[in-house]
Amino acid sequence: MAGGIVKEKLEQIIIAMIAGSRNLTLYPPDHPVVKSQVQKMFSEIQALLEGREKLSLAILEEVLVFEGVPFYQPNIAVRDFQRRIEERGMTAVEFYQGLEAQELQSWSQFLLGDAEAIREKGASAWLLEKGIDHIKVRDVREVYNRALDTVSEMFTEVRMGKIPKIESAKKAVEDLTGYVLSYRPALLALTLLKSYDNYLFNHSVNVSVLSLALAESLKTPKADLHQIGLAGLLHDLGKILTPKNIILKPNDLTPEEWEVMKEHPVKSAEILQKMPGVGELCVRLVYEHHARYDRTGYPTLEDGYQIHPYSKIIAIADVYDAVTTLRPYQKPFHPRDAIKIMEALSGKVIDPVYFQQFVRMLGIYPVGSLVRLDSGEVGMVIEVNSQTPLHPKVRIIYDPSGKKLSDTQEIDLAHPQTGAERNLVAPADPLIFDIDFTKLV
Ligand SMILES: [Fe+2]
Ligand SMILES: [Fe+2]
Repeated sequence: MAGGIVKEKLEQIIIAMIAGSRNLTLYPPDHPVVKSQVQKMFSEIQALLEGREKLSLAILEEVLVFEGVPFYQPNIAVRDFQRRIEERGMTAVEFYQGLEAQELQSWSQFLLGDAEAIREKGASAWLLEKGIDHIKVRDVREVYNRALDTVSEMFTEVRMGKIPKIESAKKAVEDLTGYVLSYRPALLALTLLKSYDNYLFNHSVNVSVLSLALAESLKTPKADLHQIGLAGLLHDLGKILTPKNIILKPNDLTPEEWEVMKEHPVKSAEILQKMPGVGELCVRLVYEHHARYDRTGYPTLEDGYQIHPYSKIIAIADVYDAVTTLRPYQKPFHPRDAIKIMEALSGKVIDPVYFQQFVRMLGIYPVGSLVRLDSGEVGMVIEVNSQTPLHPKVRIIYDPSGKKLSDTQEIDLAHPQTGAERNLVAPADPLIFDIDFTKLV
């Protein structure tokens, strides 16, 4: 089905959902108006479900993401729908094969019900209690945070000299993989939330997400995606054993300290090897993550040793996350400048072919980056244009005088009407703007 038709159908479904819940404020649930509305919505969803196991629908920052593809220019119903699902504590909904009309009627009640009470109970629990088995709700942030908790627990165990169990990490990667497949733009935006306090933990989750996104864009088989995601999540596990004073000043290390720093891929691999249920491939990817494309990295490789292609994926994710993060010794680079820095490393530290694909995946001005326009306005990139990377779609957040707009406006720089006479001039530094990224993703 062509994108435009899907978008139209999705909008019809969302409009029907909103109308359905409004009807319930006017008519009793068994009224013909309510019934026919539910029936209409039911057949629309059935048509889209044909040949699929489920429909995944997420709305982040008024951008409708369907099966991993963002659709912009929200209408009033989409905004209303987003407000309702967010108020109920979630960002995404899935409709599964086997869905019944009755479940949709209860769903309308859900959209209408007391948001506070639903939130308190938990949206998933509320739906299950009403007998809704084929509609599942999710919060993309929750998956990210759960992976963060898992990493923090595992790293803490390693610090205490224990060998952690792999199961929770596998579960976290499974969830992240599912989300990368369905809600990639949303997850990528989350990797931009940098917290210095938990650098190593956030970095681990980010590298997992970015590796998964790159591997997925390279059409990697699903079983391998799990190994890559797991290796990304645990690549720096051994770093927790490296003394803090070394971690905090990697640009200024003595030769002895540098030798200690270089031990971490081997240490990470050794720990993973001791964990039952970790495959050889995962251990290998972790071992090789600093090997460098030109083989001048660490650990030193024997002649003829082949670096696994997936290790090169993890290396790219690792470098990108490191340069876009605020560290004690480094200001974060804007994603676009990070790409420039990485261009200089391409063919030496990182694989040039995978790097090109990585840039293609992110776009030059990746989704979530702040940009300044020649009109003086500042906005956030909400959709990359792969044909003309310098003409993304932008949501204007600040007017030319620097005043934050209460009513944001979306423009398409490639489009003569909405983007008229505006050009992208420079990246804007998120640190100088009082922007809460958690509100933007
Ligand atoms: Fe590392
Ligand atoms: Fe790393």
